[in-house]
Amino acid sequence: MRIQRVRSKWAKTHALLADPAVRPFVPETRPFTRATVKEMLNRMGMVYVKPVNGTFGRGVIRVEKITGRDPHYFFQSGVRQFRFETFNEMFDKLLEVKKPKPYLVQQGIELLKLEGRRFDLRVMVQRNLQSEWETTGIIGRLAHPSKIVTNYHSGGTPMTLEDLMDGNIPKQYFSQYRNGLKKIGTMVAAALTRKFPRLMEIGIDIAIDDQLRPWILEVNTLPDPYLFRKLPDPSVYRRIHRYAEHYGRFRRRKTRSKV
Ligand SMILES: Nc1ncnc2c1ncn2[C@@H]1O[C@H](COP(=O)(O)OP(=O)(O)O)[C@@H](O)[C@H]1O
Ligand SMILES: [Mg+2]
Repeated sequence: MRIQRVRSKWAKTHALLADPAVRPFVPETRPFTRATVKEMLNRMGMVYVKPVNGTFGRGVIRVEKITGRDPHYFFQSGVRQFRFETFNEMFDKLLEVKKPKPYLVQQGIELLKLEGRRFDLRVMVQRNLQSEWETTGIIGRLAHPSKIVTNYHSGGTPMTLEDLMDGNIPKQYFSQYRNGLKKIGTMVAAALTRKFPRLMEIGIDIAIDDQLRPWILEVNTLPDPYLFRKLPDPSVYRRIHRYAEHYGRFRRRKTRSKV
């Protein structure tokens, strides 16, 4: 049986919102329109605009409405930054910069930082040898200093959760915090399985805000297992690989002829 994949960030967001236990961790998400961007910016001040079918942080845009003494609008895509006096000027440029495909707009989370660089987490959840969902790995990703995304493919640096959270939570609470993240991992898997029963593995992008509150930015159904080779503890990747092999992730496609 083939492993199930779901590309649409919409389909996955709806599956998460359908579960009352997971719902509080999902940032508000709407279709991208002039009205939704305007309304959410007025209410939240910062949003992320991203392709419904995107990967590697490509096409992701951070949009801000700055208030106070020097009110203006601002957005960043890749390393390009733009400043505007009015919403309409800003939105017209946004239409130029975004690719001509469906986008969504999501409540922006102010990510925790380490030495001025934003970071978030990748949480790997897999069906184990008993076919139960198990959180098998957590790795942090530190954004390139001039970028608004943390993706490895956009210059993000993999780091351990311990190193990233050192200074943010007292040592004695660390394992409790990690267990909370693992629990979110299996809850998210359960929520998605209700809509997509043949999933075998997921990789959840989790943001942590300055209140240490976790937020689910997106769920990947073709998560990169190799990222976990960057962890100093090799047993993490070994287990990820063992489970993935068991459900057939690395199985070669049959060739048509043996000639
Ligand atoms: N709502 C958000 N608030 C803050 N940062 C975000 C938000 N959405 C995305 N990001 C940043 O952009 C990165 C890429 O976004 P993501 O939704 O994971 O799309 P992709 O499929 O391209 O990886 C995230 O890992 C995170 O660093
Ligand atoms: Mg992602």
